[in-house]
Amino acid sequence: MSDQKRGMHGIWAGRWTFILAATGSAVGLGNLWKFPYITGENGGGAFVLVYLACILLAGIPVMLAEVLLGRKTRLSPINAMAKMTEETGAPKLFHGIGWMGAASGFFILSFYSVIAGWALLYVGKIASGAFVGINADGSGAAFGAMLADPVGLTIWHTVFMFLTGAVIARGVNKGLEAALKILMPVLFILMLILFGYSLTTPGFMQGFHFLFDFDFSKLSGESVVVALGHSFFTLSLGMGAIMAYGAYMPQEQSLGKTIMWVGLLDTLVALIAGMIIFAIVFSNGLEPSSGPGLMFVSLPIAFGSMPGGIFFGTVFFILVSIAAWSSAISIAEPAVAWAVEKGITRVKATAAICGFAWFLGLGTVLSFNEWAEYKLFGKTFFDTLDFLTANIMLPLGGLLIAIFVGWFVSSDAVKKEANIENETLFKVWRFILRFVSPAAVSIIFLHGLGVFN
Ligand code: PHE
Repeated sequence: MSDQKRGMHGIWAGRWTFILAATGSAVGLGNLWKFPYITGENGGGAFVLVYLACILLAGIPVMLAEVLLGRKTRLSPINAMAKMTEETGAPKLFHGIGWMGAASGFFILSFYSVIAGWALLYVGKIASGAFVGINADGSGAAFGAMLADPVGLTIWHTVFMFLTGAVIARGVNKGLEAALKILMPVLFILMLILFGYSLTTPGFMQGFHFLFDFDFSKLSGESVVVALGHSFFTLSLGMGAIMAYGAYMPQEQSLGKTIMWVGLLDTLVALIAGMIIFAIVFSNGLEPSSGPGLMFVSLPIAFGSMPGGIFFGTVFFILVSIAAWSSAISIAEPAVAWAVEKGITRVKATAAICGFAWFLGLGTVLSFNEWAEYKLFGKTFFDTLDFLTANIMLPLGGLLIAIFVGWFVSSDAVKKEANIENETLFKVWRFILRFVSPAAVSIIFLHGLGVFN
């Protein structure tokens, strides 16, 4: 393979590595922590249905488009968009997709690291036996005490950011590729064990109905925006993470099947996490709509009462941390790859980007304690960043990518790069990308901004 085709960042070594890396990026706090609690806040089944529709009609098509742009250019998202905009003669506006993505990445990384810090902290807590025999009140109180301590939160936020930077600085191939090969299957197996446990709890069916019974009266306009935003967040779309990983994908690999796998695995993990958590929520009289603490309050109760709970609980939170880790790496990768293309060393670029995101993360730390009362439109600093990125910046990025690949890149070029064997499938995808995804995202957007009210 010529240098031109390889690009300057290298290529994933194995045939499965892209799937592994993309799944590692996609499966993270979004699936295990965020999906259950936003489902709880938005009334359950109808929200889940809208979310699944968004994954199918916007998420998967946009993912294919992102990977395609990355692989075609073999550049960081910022330069990939610059090059493609110039080549296709599309309006300069599309060049901005890369920059907006880098900005989204900073924002997301800053709060992602704080929440992942909670998971790290819980590893130690569960391992120490602090949760043995705990009830719902005790678990809630332990979570509250953690949030009230900005110093503790900052320490774990720092540890997590450091771990993330350490892998990125070495280049993604060496550390991550090897680790993920073992860790992702272990995560899956552990989730199945927890799922088995949840089947034995009295609240399982109630949780199941909560997740899968569609009551559309519970669905508000904002819920639909949240579902759309989350479909982008959970698949790591709209900010360049998947585009950056696509740039390291071997040329001969067909995009269609690969991406279906990533989408399927990500969705499966989210739904299983939801079933586990709601079984415990309903078995213990917890509130499904209790917000970001849902996973951290509910799961320790289960681990505190099941045989081998200390062991399984510790392993579980280690895996949550690792899932978050492999996602965080992909959040920073687009900006780091761009800096490397500018001639900055990988180590320096990583230090600058992670350092800045760390600093911004202090705002999220404080929004759970000292700044909890400072609100903008009813949202704390953390809520604002979360809303801005997931519900505005990522869908907007996704919308622009769909329009760009759908309307500005020639059908032949797209076909050649996508390498989808099945002609009908290719046509369906292109149709969705050109018409369905942009229309769906625009309508939901305008609705969210209150245009139809
Ligand atoms: N997809 C990741 C998760 O679900 C988060 C993420 C968002 C990663 C955006 C990369 C880019 O946790």
